[in-house]
Amino acid sequence: MIKAVRGMKDILPPETARWQWMETVARAVFQRYGYQEIRLPLLERTELFQRSIGASTDIVEKEMYTFLDRRGESLTLRPEATAGVVRAFIENRLDQGAEVKKLYTIGPMFRYERPQKGRYRQFHQINGEALGGEAPEVDAELILLVLDIFQQLGLTDLELLINSLGCPVCRPAYLLELTALLARQVRDLCEDCQRRSASNPLRVFDCKSKVCQELLLQVPTMADHLCDDCVAHDRRVRELLDRYQVSYRQQPRLVRGLDYYTRTAFEVVSTRLGAQDAVAGGGRYNGLIKELGGPDLPAVGFAIGEERLAALLSDQDEAGDRPRLLFVAALGPAALDKSFDLVQGLRRQGCQVDMDFGQRSLKAQMTMANRRGAAFVLILGDQELAAGRGLLKDMASGTQQEVSLTDLAAIRAALGDKGV
Ligand code: HAM
Repeated sequence: MIKAVRGMKDILPPETARWQWMETVARAVFQRYGYQEIRLPLLERTELFQRSIGASTDIVEKEMYTFLDRRGESLTLRPEATAGVVRAFIENRLDQGAEVKKLYTIGPMFRYERPQKGRYRQFHQINGEALGGEAPEVDAELILLVLDIFQQLGLTDLELLINSLGCPVCRPAYLLELTALLARQVRDLCEDCQRRSASNPLRVFDCKSKVCQELLLQVPTMADHLCDDCVAHDRRVRELLDRYQVSYRQQPRLVRGLDYYTRTAFEVVSTRLGAQDAVAGGGRYNGLIKELGGPDLPAVGFAIGEERLAALLSDQDEAGDRPRLLFVAALGPAALDKSFDLVQGLRRQGCQVDMDFGQRSLKAQMTMANRRGAAFVLILGDQELAAGRGLLKDMASGTQQEVSLTDLAAIRAALGDKGV
């Protein structure tokens, strides 16, 4: 048997109904906030990710699916969407006009991480990017959008963590200070952090080692070193969140796994997710569009991890489509022939109807209907056929009524709200 690749999983029915629901809700919220969909290739040139995510990040150093194509060009399966959105924004000249370009995309991402609960090698993101807006209102609007998606899905027990990572005015001086401080304690740091302290010092704050965590408690954070403009930006973002009674925790040690962030950085976490507790993450990335060869425009964005979102929703009763099914149980060849027409006619009227062609017993077909979660079963044998009337059974209440086989509108009416 050939199995799926490690860390990549099939999303099967009825779980797919939950995914459709999550994505429908997200699309509706995006639309309300003026976002338009963009669909991008899964493959990009490797250099795009090296230059955007950062050459010394875990993602680029060890997690990318990179290969040479037949002409020897290095390509990479996208580990995230932002780089591709920015590439497309520049390449297609979407920067025309002064308005903020708000784009969203939903789809699979690939990271060669060690698989565990909530962490996969192919996973999916609901991703939003607002390009071309400097104002702190854009950050606040984007965070409100993310929280609206969660709220619309009925998730209220999440926590928003927020930080500012500074800008090219204030960060370099802080990084110098941090590097010097870490160099002094380098022997006490774990192996990873020893490496990071020279190549990408901010990343040490993400270390899970207790010893490093302890040490880092003594180290000043970026939040203590922000320039006046960054302080004002951060304050205004939080002021707007306060206005909408958004509760958040300022987390001065929050850093992100991608290097492109400036100023606002945030994550949405849940205690119900275990070790991989972030269901969404994002922030501002003012230098990236220019870095990738485009105009000097600011931007901010986020991504929600769909596997983690689905896990949070798994104990919730979503608007799945299972309860609405009408199953037609045909007994005998003549009834099967008539049922085929009936099913087709009802489908064309917008009903969700199905049947089986295996000419099985009534008992077997009732079992099938139950397994499918049918709300109704219409029973059709020779006797019913002769009388031109079938027996419609409501599976929840167990009540039965006769319905005319020629009057599809009456059948639809009998199905009531649950039918269409
Ligand atoms: P990220 O924090 O790397 O940010 O990923 C965002 C979310 O994707 C995470 O919070 C998590 O829910 C989910 N995720 C990440 N890796 C995995 C994995 N291996 N398995 C399952 N879920 C995962 C970004 O990707 C940025 N591009 C977000 C962004 C957009 N920033 C600005 N614009």
